[in-house]
Amino acid sequence: MPESIFADVVDARLSRRRTLRGLLALPFSTTIFGGWPIGRAAAGADTPSFDFEGVAHGIDGTHHVAAGYDADILIRWGDAIRPGVPAFDPRRQTAAAQRRRFGYNNDFLGFVPLPGDAGRGLLCVNHEYVNHELMFPVAERGRATRARVDVEMAAHSGSIVEVARGDGGWRVVIDGRYNRRITALDTEMRLSGPVAGHPRLRTGTDPSGGRVIGTIANCAGGITPWGTYLMAEENFHFYFAGDADGKKESPNYRRYGVGKRTFYDWGTYYPRWNIDREPNAPNRFGWIVEVDPLDPSAPPVKRTALGRFKHEGAESILNGDGRLVLYSGDDERFEYLYRFVSRDRVDLDNRAANRDLLDDGTLSVARFSPDGKYHWLPLIFGTGGLTPEAGFESQADVLIEARRAADILGATRMDRPEDVTPNPRTGKVYVMLTNNSKRRADDRDAVNDRARNIWGQIVEMAPAGGDHSAPGGRWELLVKGGDPARKAETGAKWHAATGPDGWFACPDNAAVDPSGRLWVATDQGRNWARASGTADGLWAIETEGAARGLARMLFRVPVGAEMCGPCFTPDGETLFLSVQHPGADGTKDFAPFARKSTYEDPATRWPDFDSGLPPRPAVVAITRKGGGRIGS
Ligand code: FEO
Ligand code: CA
Ligand code: CA
Repeated sequence: MPESIFADVVDARLSRRRTLRGLLALPFSTTIFGGWPIGRAAAGADTPSFDFEGVAHGIDGTHHVAAGYDADILIRWGDAIRPGVPAFDPRRQTAAAQRRRFGYNNDFLGFVPLPGDAGRGLLCVNHEYVNHELMFPVAERGRATRARVDVEMAAHSGSIVEVARGDGGWRVVIDGRYNRRITALDTEMRLSGPVAGHPRLRTGTDPSGGRVIGTIANCAGGITPWGTYLMAEENFHFYFAGDADGKKESPNYRRYGVGKRTFYDWGTYYPRWNIDREPNAPNRFGWIVEVDPLDPSAPPVKRTALGRFKHEGAESILNGDGRLVLYSGDDERFEYLYRFVSRDRVDLDNRAANRDLLDDGTLSVARFSPDGKYHWLPLIFGTGGLTPEAGFESQADVLIEARRAADILGATRMDRPEDVTPNPRTGKVYVMLTNNSKRRADDRDAVNDRARNIWGQIVEMAPAGGDHSAPGGRWELLVKGGDPARKAETGAKWHAATGPDGWFACPDNAAVDPSGRLWVATDQGRNWARASGTADGLWAIETEGAARGLARMLFRVPVGAEMCGPCFTPDGETLFLSVQHPGADGTKDFAPFARKSTYEDPATRWPDFDSGLPPRPAVVAITRKGGGRIGS
């Protein structure tokens, strides 16, 4: 990067670091946002501190935001992120153009401020997957050509775009020097940590086992205290063609669902997506990828010390002792909750010193007890039964097969762990358990306590002594999703004053605002009609005081979409949200439409409502009319 910019960046970091230093002096204090009291408009017993009227439950073709707020479309699939890109025409898509356009199905959003101006920053965006039926006209859908496959690969993974706030609101800076696409088509990355170079990762085109093209299924993620962008690889199993049986890795692949079903035709054209041709390829996915948004020339790095599973996200917190603690859920029914504690301390004086911090540390998995306590079980080769007798020859084997290692340790089988969000103001950690329709009555435990759980719950964890590296702590359920007015059927748990529009189902992503309040995005999928009868949305929920468990919806998505990516700017005055796959999920249950949604005949054409365009996943910027912090 040019020197003047580098100096600015260092300058901004210095002032942030001073704040951090002061806070680190407090025992186990772990905030990066200073200054604001929690729940500043003190919440009463049945009045939350949020100052907006909640959006009502409902579903229709467009979005809704609380009165007094603006919701502006910032960027959509197909928008150029570079100068000189031709106007978007979804009937004439090419991979070459898609590599310079915003990708499909935006999920995680992270904001990295740029120096010198509170209204400038880099938005880091995951592109989780693509919906063929809404992305391509029918002629393209019918034939899986290499050209179409290349467009799909180019629409995956990530975007880094400079955004700036001006008189007209937020806009994309199209010639931003850091603007960059990361794709599954051609972005080269390296693997690092204990698994890098292991024979189980070697392929015909990469005999080193240390280099890989692309990242996929990038769901949620995180931003580290030193400003790098973490992309979680979640449902990687959907991408591999070929037969998982009769191979050396068959038990491993069965455990992760590889070979059961593929959603894409990539393996027809690319050996790296075909396990008959590259039998080790799936071991190269299911990791956390670290990207430096301030260095567009640096290849992303897959950090194998964090384990291989279907990572929902990778949210971290600076522990009181200066180490990084990162939480990550494995989003599948009956899978686990993980924690990584770095061996070394974060160096806030020297950003480069943290470059390989995520390569050394201890990965653990959670066990919850009915007495309200939880414990972390370390995944360390040679201990706890993770030995050659169990088929593990090294720490690399333990990390590649993290799920099987966690089985052996006796971790608690959870109801689909999605985001795990530490609250830097209170030291507590919030785990979104989205749902588990397959849990049986005889299979319940204290924390996953409902059979056929289609509503999900939020677990609150309080690490012992406020120390995120502690061996355990205490847990309790914050809320249990579903309609409290039908408690006998749903078993829902909310604050007693919860009204008909004050509850939700299927918590997925979450964020903590600069005042320390929790915000939750829901994803009910095609089950929305049975889970709640309302479209997904973004909810504020009280976690402290007498109003604990009261929630209000700030934003509601259009039919078929899920809500993702809540992300506050450091001043708390803007909230970026991801509207993923509008017009896709559960449209048969949407009475005014009541059929499958396609490119030609979509349930909605949000956000453009242009008869020549299908619905488009998009990022929305929420601000208060007249300015001020969101929600207060
Ligand atoms: Fe991609 Fe677990 O949601
Ligand atoms: Ca998710
Ligand atoms: Ca989800």
